[in-house]
Amino acid sequence: MFIGKDINETVKLARDAFESIGIDSPWLDAEILLADSLNLTREEILVKGNNPFPSEDSKKWQNIVLRRMKREPVDRILGKKRFRKLDFNVVPGVFSPRPETEELLSRALERIPENGCFLDLCCGTGCIGISIANERNCQGVLCDIDTKAVSHAQSEAKRLLPNADLTIVQSDLFENIEDKFDLIVSNPPYISTKERKSLPPEVINFDPEGSLFCGPDGLHVCKSIIDKAPNYLNKNGWLLIEYGFCQKDNVSNLFSSDWTNVKQRKPWGAPRSEKDFFVEAQWSPS
Ligand SMILES: C[S@@+](CC[C@H](N)C(=O)[O-])C[C@H]1O[C@@H](n2cnc3c(N)ncnc32)[C@H](O)[C@@H]1O
Repeated sequence: MFIGKDINETVKLARDAFESIGIDSPWLDAEILLADSLNLTREEILVKGNNPFPSEDSKKWQNIVLRRMKREPVDRILGKKRFRKLDFNVVPGVFSPRPETEELLSRALERIPENGCFLDLCCGTGCIGISIANERNCQGVLCDIDTKAVSHAQSEAKRLLPNADLTIVQSDLFENIEDKFDLIVSNPPYISTKERKSLPPEVINFDPEGSLFCGPDGLHVCKSIIDKAPNYLNKNGWLLIEYGFCQKDNVSNLFSSDWTNVKQRKPWGAPRSEKDFFVEAQWSPS
């Protein structure tokens, strides 16, 4: 099953199987998974397309194709996800980083001052905070309510950036946070319970519920962050929050007049513009 006479044909068999059940990018998924399974690059898969498929790898490959056919995401099968400059390990029970969040990260990198300090609220794998520390001289605190996410982010920070000045703690939003920061960045849960039925199986069956849903309007964590952030921001510090397409009409109204430079930002690219946004605002009380 799913093994062709050579590598080319094996990719095609997997592609056909993925396409037949409505997977969006069947060819790309087949190539990425086969390359990883054979310890080759995608370029090598093309160059070696006429080589016979190594029979000793058959069982492993069949198992991978079946996992994808059960709609397990490619990054969960690979056990890793590239996020900007680093490869994060992806583990069950912890939200897997998304490409659109790289745009939130890019803005955070622009807003954090040299030698500044930041808080990554709702850190998951730690992809935002660890990436900031990878590219800027700064001090960071990362937190998540979920103990599994916290211990995963701690081990990722140790593995990827052993010398960085990062503290990773369990906290329900600001509950266990004491300091003040130059920047607070967050990709919190923001999907309304009404949107549940529209989510693909790759999301609903594999990302933890607590990383996705946030009440009937998807806004209550976002509101709470905006409400409490002034207690944890230095004057003129920045708050950056990712939120969903369905919340786009309501978010800037949540900021009082003590916030300035409030801007809702749409990520680049057409398909993604239907999905997620982020907002930035500067705490400038008079
Ligand atoms: C959408 S995921 C984002 C994870 C990570 N920042 C990223 O971009 O990949 C949201 C995260 O928020 C965490 N979370 C949910 N409610 C929270 C709360 N009240 N306080 C802190 N973290 C929370 C979840 O455990 C999850 O890891």
